[in-house]
Amino acid sequence: MERFSIIVGDITQSDADAIVNAANTTLLGGSGVDGAIHRAAGPELLAECRTLGGCETGKAKITSGYRLSAQYVIHTPGPIWQGGGYGEAALLASCYRSCLLLAAEKGLRTVDFPSISTGVYHYPLPQAATVALKAIMDFLDAHDLPERVRMVCHTEETALVYRQTWNLWYAGDKSNRM
Ligand code: APR
Repeated sequence: MERFSIIVGDITQSDADAIVNAANTTLLGGSGVDGAIHRAAGPELLAECRTLGGCETGKAKITSGYRLSAQYVIHTPGPIWQGGGYGEAALLASCYRSCLLLAAEKGLRTVDFPSISTGVYHYPLPQAATVALKAIMDFLDAHDLPERVRMVCHTEETALVYRQTWNLWYAGDKSNRM
């Protein structure tokens, strides 16, 4: 099993132990992948989210997956892009790390991510991909769990940017890692 891969698909159809939701700080649902996950999981997801008291940007909280194939949903509010000078990169990296840490603590083996903040939150895709891949690869280098992480891109265009970024930084051996 490849430790990390980039695929095209609908994350609500994922059978990973956990899928990550690109949420907002209220955790009370929204549009984009947040809306899709809530629709697929059913109303019990919102009911559980209501008990969580929201979530800070860059942090993560875990719930059951309910009607989803995934057993869990890890909710993380990504940063809203404001031009890049307001700590967006650090907050985005923190989203990925927080989700992976929660998954590892829970002993989860497989985790699927959407491309956090690159939709409604307007984070430029090439920059978000660079931050995401570094955060994921650094975490996997230092931890045994999760055993498999996938970036589930909703479109081929998104996947192309992640693959180009992967090839730029991670193709070949480890010596050229950023
Ligand atoms: N599967 C996988 N990826 C998806 C899916 C899906 N079913 N639906 C959308 N996406 C992708 C988008 O194409 C984008 O690449 O998820 C990525 C993140 O986009 P958004 O869902 O808009 O999330 P984000 O940019 O982080 O904005 C979060 O939007 O939905 C609201 O409540 C949410 O306020 C929060 C904000």
